[in-house]
This record gives sequence, C-alpha cells and structure tokens, in this order.
Amino acid sequence: MRSPWSGNGNVRERPALSSHVRADVCVVGAGIAGLSTAYLLQRDGAQVVVLDDGPIGGGQTGRTTAHLSNALDDRYGELERLHGESGARLAAESHTSAIARIEEIARDEGIDCDFARVDGFLFAPEASALQAPPTTLPTLSDLLQEELEAALRAGVPGVEQVMRAPLASFDTGPCLRFPAQARIEPLRYLEGLARAFERLGGQVFTGTRATVIVGGKDAHVDTLGGRRVSCAHVVVATNTPVNDRFVIHAKQAPYTTYAIALRVAHGSVPDLLLWDTEDPYHYVRLQPVPPNGGAGHDLLIVGGEDHKSGQADDGMERFARLESWARERFPSVEGVEQRWSGQVMEPSDGVAFIGRNPSDAENVYVATGDSGHGMTHGTIAGMLICDLIADRPNPWVGLYDPGRLTVGAATDLLSENLNVAAQYVDWLRPGSVSSEEEIANGSGAVLRRGLTKIAVYRDDDGRVHRLGAACPHLGCIVSWNSVERTWVCPCHGSRFSCMGRVLNGPANHDLTPLDGAADEQETKHGEQEQV
Ligand code: FES
Repeated sequence: MRSPWSGNGNVRERPALSSHVRADVCVVGAGIAGLSTAYLLQRDGAQVVVLDDGPIGGGQTGRTTAHLSNALDDRYGELERLHGESGARLAAESHTSAIARIEEIARDEGIDCDFARVDGFLFAPEASALQAPPTTLPTLSDLLQEELEAALRAGVPGVEQVMRAPLASFDTGPCLRFPAQARIEPLRYLEGLARAFERLGGQVFTGTRATVIVGGKDAHVDTLGGRRVSCAHVVVATNTPVNDRFVIHAKQAPYTTYAIALRVAHGSVPDLLLWDTEDPYHYVRLQPVPPNGGAGHDLLIVGGEDHKSGQADDGMERFARLESWARERFPSVEGVEQRWSGQVMEPSDGVAFIGRNPSDAENVYVATGDSGHGMTHGTIAGMLICDLIADRPNPWVGLYDPGRLTVGAATDLLSENLNVAAQYVDWLRPGSVSSEEEIANGSGAVLRRGLTKIAVYRDDDGRVHRLGAACPHLGCIVSWNSVERTWVCPCHGSRFSCMGRVLNGPANHDLTPLDGAADEQETKHGEQEQV
C-alpha cells in the first residue's frame, strides 16, 4: 500500500550518523516540518544537523495527499469560537503564508516538484445534484453560509460563493471557492529541500534513531548507534513527539485516513481541490503523470473515511466506499492505481502545536498536531521555530503555543481522553482470537497469555512471530491493521511493523520480541512500511 509518490526513487539515500558531531541545532525528523525548519535555520546562518530513523519523508509526509490550503477543515467558524476572531485571522494568515513560502522555496531553489496553484471548492453534499431534488435553490447551505462569513472575517483572500464547482461530471450545487490554493508532489519537494539545505552546508543522516533527547545547557541527542549530536537547540519534528510522554499527547488524537488514486484521461477532470462538508469529509485533487503534464494521464486522488487509529480494521471496505464515491461523481475514472492510508494528528482545538516544548528546557521545540494540513503546518513550523531560535518576534507564537489550554475545547479534550482511558480495558478483555491456529498467513492478532497479551504475526510462509502487545509508550494494547500489516496503538497512534519495529511515535522503542531473532526477520517482513 503505497502513495503515488513513495517508493519511486524520488528520495536519495543519506548516510547514517557514524561519529559524534556538534551543531547549533539538531532537528529530529526529516519530514516536511523537520526539513523546512532545518533549511530555514541553515539559510539564516545556523549549522544544522537532521536525524531520521527512516528515509527522508518516510513518515507521514510520504503518505499525505499534499493539499496546500488555507481552507481549514476545522472550519473558520469553529476556529473563531475556540481562538477568537484574531486567532482565526492568524490561522488564515499563517497557512496563506505557508503556501507562498513553499512556492517561493520551490522557485528559488529550482525544485522540480510540480507545484501548481489551483482553486479549491468546499461543497455541501446535500445541495449537490446527486442528493438534492432538482428544485434546489441557488443558495448556500446554512453551514457554508456561516463558513463564508467566518472566512471573510478571518481575512481569507478572495474566498467567495459560486454557483457550482467547474466540474462537468456532477453538480456540486452552490459552494465556496478558495482561490490560489496549491498542490505539490511532496517527496520531490522534500528531496529538493534536503538538497538545498545540504548545499548550504547542512547535514542529513537517515537510518539514525534518536533515543535520548536532552535540552538545557548541555543539550544533545543520542542515537541508537551510540553517537551524539551536541547542540544549542533541539527541534523534535517526528509527526508526534517522541520526547514527550503526556502533555501534548493528552491534547491531540490520532486518526487514520484513507486515500486512493484512480487513473483518468489527461485533462478530463479540471485541476482543482475539492472538499465536502461530511464528517469525516472527502477530499479530492489531481496529479498529472508524469509530473508537469506531458503525454501521460492524470491521477484523481480521493481521500476520506477517517477513523480513530487502532480502533477499526476494515480498511478494504473503506477503500471500496471511497471508490464508489469517486465513480458516482467522476464516471470517466478508470482503474485504481494506488490505495494507501496515513495518520492525522487532530489537536483538540484545531490548531497545531508548534514552539517550545512544555515542561522542558527552553531550547527544546516541537512541531505536531498537523490536523490534516501537514504540508502547511509543517512549513509554518519552519518559519515559527526559526524565528523563536533567532529570538525574532513572530505574531503566530501564541496561537501555536504547545503549552496552551483552550477553554472552549474542553469537551473534545475530555471525550478524547476518556476514549484513551477506555483502551486500557483491553488488558482485561480476551484476545481478538483464542489460538494462533486461527491466524491466517500474512495476518496478525492479539492473544491472551495468562495475565498478559501477546501480538502474534503469522508471515506469508506460515511462520509465527510473537511480540509483547503492550505499547512501549504508555502500555496500551496494540491492535492489528490488516491493510498496512502493522501494529497500531489505539491510545496515541504509535505504529509498529509486523515484526514490531517502531515506525511512528510517540513510542520510541520496538515492541518486545518474545521469540528472539526478530531483527534478522525484519528486513524480509517489515520493510513494506518504509517509503
Ligand atoms: Fe501511547 Fe501507545 S502510543 S500508549
């Protein structure tokens, strides 16, 4: 299960860290947030080192659908309720600036990443021709009307009502147009960003897991290979922080989202972004193949069907529902070329956490809570953290402060934390199967063994691999994801390969192997998780 951008040679391998080094800043995480931060800091004159456990973009940046948008899916009306009119304005301003910054970097650094400005359209499914009676009046739904007014108050440039999105295949009904959005090929951009960073003197080390992160006077990052980066500042940009056990994880929740790429004739669907107002909502974009057009075809990328991570294992049904949604509205689509899923960190108040890590030394920074806008939030992280380290004023500091508690989000916060607490009951429940014989080849399940739980994976050859099922972060019981062939923690979203190797934090350790010899099997059975 790979996105259209992963595994196609867009990203060059980097060496692992092989000696102790000293830098002004050590960035942990080579995704959009980490590399944007590293590049901007290095351009500012700092000496920066980037570490990543996997390859560049091997986490969620390789799985994003890369909508670059200031049409925020938590909706401006809700952001205004939670953060006031000034907060909503800062959110609009920061995402608009992030799109412009990506465009500027791609242009200035000559990054061939298929950046294109396109219009985005937000429509209400109940007003579209597929669902509404033919007498539908040319007015916006109440929800869209309220959103238009809130977006105008927030200063979103050019947002307006239009009679329908410019699609021949179906009528969206009256909808909102957000001009000057963008789409991009995210891994080509990331590789270009890494090369630009390296040209400036920065260093990227991949295959290097950060195991100890220490701030303060003797700030440093230690790695699994026993090497150390000594530095003045540390930035943790690992999608969800691996250096924070409670504070931030109590304020955000992991959701799994699904996407498919369907082949369409080049030019048969207009190049735009499209979102509906369902919950969870659908999102659509186009990707020319080969990038930058030419004589090829296009991919229509359709996503949605989100659920709380680790709390459902029906991915194939969700892909099927996305496909039928797409075929109903875009009958010219041909076959499905890719299916994949990714993880979205949903902050309880709709805004990412970017800045100084709460309850930590002053020189440790985090970027997390992408809220489905990872490309822009990651770029905002770069701009904001760069200003914080350079001690420059930045108007977005308060909005994105990771230490904030937003009073209006208390109900969501409570409900997500009750959901996490409920997951610990898994310790008392029976396993998902009662014996290893019930597990099919290429599949996994959790079994009870006395007072403990074990995660059992049966590989394609029928060999059984047993792991401790307790997540090394805070001890929730992992569950099996059959689409990705991974173990997923239902509490804060840590993901592990079928053989137990950690792929996504906040856990920073592998699941405990119970049979030994896990490492030598890892390459064969777990590598499908690396982009
Ligand atoms: Fe927190 Fe697993 S991710 S307990």
